[in-house]
Amino acid sequence: MEAVNQQNKGLWGWRFVQVVVGLSLLYFAQLYYFGGFDETTTRQAIRMSARIAVVLFSFAFMASSLQYFFKNVFTWWLRMNRKYIGISFAIIHLIHLCFLLILQTNFHPVFNKAKTISLIGGGMAYIFLVLMLLTSFSAFSKYLSKKQWTILHTVGGYWIWYIFIRSYVKRATTESEYIPLVVLLVVVIGLRLVRVVNNKYWNNKF
Ligand code: HEM
Repeated sequence: MEAVNQQNKGLWGWRFVQVVVGLSLLYFAQLYYFGGFDETTTRQAIRMSARIAVVLFSFAFMASSLQYFFKNVFTWWLRMNRKYIGISFAIIHLIHLCFLLILQTNFHPVFNKAKTISLIGGGMAYIFLVLMLLTSFSAFSKYLSKKQWTILHTVGGYWIWYIFIRSYVKRATTESEYIPLVVLLVVVIGLRLVRVVNNKYWNNKF
């Protein structure tokens, strides 16, 4: 009963996805409306879509660890909506890919110019992203055992985390505005690792 009352307050489930994706699309539309359909605007859209995506990804990937250490209404809401925050991340990052395709087909052959290792790294991240998105729905997750599902979402999560931290550490070395995003990604991995160590070696001391 409490959960149902709570669900009438604030953003829950698909309403969270609708609001986050809706506002992001409005933001991208105004970027092109005021900036014009050109390379600069498209690169800004690529950067901003990555920033929105990294924040959503971070909260989805650290939701259970955050609630493990800090039990409160916010971490409970986060844990209960992790699936929808993850789905919102996947949609926004597929929009990042759409902007890359706009850049490729209209302004700059980014996929031709990118290093093979970046294409493989980024490409694998997108394969994980699509598989994690699809298996967020029972129509697809029913084909996986619980263990297979957990392995896919853990390995996929760490790989996407790695591509993000690699992209942002590179930029943070020259542009300090990226430091908060690097700190966020370090907090995500720190919480997950301390939880694993706490579980395994410290007998749940915390
Ligand atoms: C093969 C696929 C990908 C390609 C070709 C690609 C290409 C690019 C390019 C060209 C930019 C620079 C845009 C600019 O600043 O002008 C960029 C930015 C970025 N990409 Fe991607 N990307 C790919 C996949 C990914 C994936 C899978 C992730 C994360 C999991 C990611 C995260 C980022 C981040 C964090 C930025 C920096 C945004 C900023 O400067 O604020 N990319 N990408």
